[in-house]
Amino acid sequence: MTDKATMTGRPVISSTGLFTPSESITNEELVASFNEYVRRHNAANAEAIEAGEVEPLNESSVEFIEKASGIKARHVMAKVPVLDPEIMAPRWPQRSNDELSILAEIGVKAATQALERAGRKPEDVDAVLCAASNMERPYPAMAIEIQQALGIDGFGFDMNVACSSATFGIQTAADYIRSGNAKSVLVISPEITSGHLNWRDRDSHFIFGDVATAVLVEDAAIAPADHWDILGTKLKTVFSNNIRNNFGFLNRAYPDDAGGPDKLFVQEGRKVFKEVVPMVAQMIVDEAERLDLDPQGLRRLWLHQANTGMNRLIAHRVLGHEANEDESPTVLDTYGNTSSAGSIIAFHLHSKDLEAGDTGLICSFGAGYSAGTVFVRKSA
Ligand code: COA
Repeated sequence: MTDKATMTGRPVISSTGLFTPSESITNEELVASFNEYVRRHNAANAEAIEAGEVEPLNESSVEFIEKASGIKARHVMAKVPVLDPEIMAPRWPQRSNDELSILAEIGVKAATQALERAGRKPEDVDAVLCAASNMERPYPAMAIEIQQALGIDGFGFDMNVACSSATFGIQTAADYIRSGNAKSVLVISPEITSGHLNWRDRDSHFIFGDVATAVLVEDAAIAPADHWDILGTKLKTVFSNNIRNNFGFLNRAYPDDAGGPDKLFVQEGRKVFKEVVPMVAQMIVDEAERLDLDPQGLRRLWLHQANTGMNRLIAHRVLGHEANEDESPTVLDTYGNTSSAGSIIAFHLHSKDLEAGDTGLICSFGAGYSAGTVFVRKSA
């Protein structure tokens, strides 16, 4: 293995990995389940609704979901309980402390693919960052459990920057490479968002899907010939209450409300849309300028996958024209919003065809608010 003296301090993306759950829910299936829940709720509360004491629930619609978000289906770890109007949440047997956690399990699957693609052995990796919007528990860290499962010597820790976790993880990994503190770092984003989604909330029940991604960030000196140079990374956060989840360990201080709807994902979607689009578009243009790159010369944008309308507006502002699917690929239709994993899925599935010297942008944005940019150039 290359020692510290021969390292370049130049971070690159050596490979990526993707784990996609086998089960998927179409909008039609989702809406049928949701509307059955609405019918049962309204029937059970008919008298109170008649008396004006309880508001009736409104039905969801496939047409609204596709038009407002671009989402047509989403993968989930457990389809049957999510679609059961009496449950509407994931369900699986609780695992013992001696078994691999489910979040670690899917992280390991994505990471294994990334390692294989780079021809890398686990013992060559120095660090594991588990960067995702929900951890299965506070400690021991998911990253350390994944590290142990893969057989990696070194260190690992968890980081949560909501939908921007992966790009914040990539910059953190890149900084380890730049400083010479590591030569090979796995950034793993297992997202079981079906656990934080309120499947009974009409405004958001269609948004999220489950997945896991992995990005192997390495020193150029040890990277495979086929890699992506990281030209620059930039992070930004601005406080906002418009995307919020109040789940936490202090919920037990007020037990009467510990299971309230605010302990799941809640957002003011329209405000998020209006505020985040200009913030992110400006950030990309400014960072491109700082890196001496012409934003209109970017070959491809792998944007966060929350809403096709947001991506259309951001891409237009950056590229100076309406982007086509080749310039700004979408995975929202089949994956839904997978939180921090979205831009990485787009990169993983839609980067093979680029040529040496082509530049592109991985960009995420979401709760916090948070946003991250990773400008990359395809190697020889
Ligand atoms: N089915 C049918 N109608 C629905 C509905 C559903 N599931 N959900 C909401 N509606 C209705 C609303 O009641 C509202 O009706 P009204 O006009 O009579 O009041 C109307 O549709 C518009 O609702 P609104 O919430 O304003 O929709 P929207 O066009 O803003 O789309 C989002 C909602 C969430 C798709 C969109 O705002 C979005 O994607 N925002 C960005 C989210 C984001 O990036 N979040 C980051 C998370 S990581």
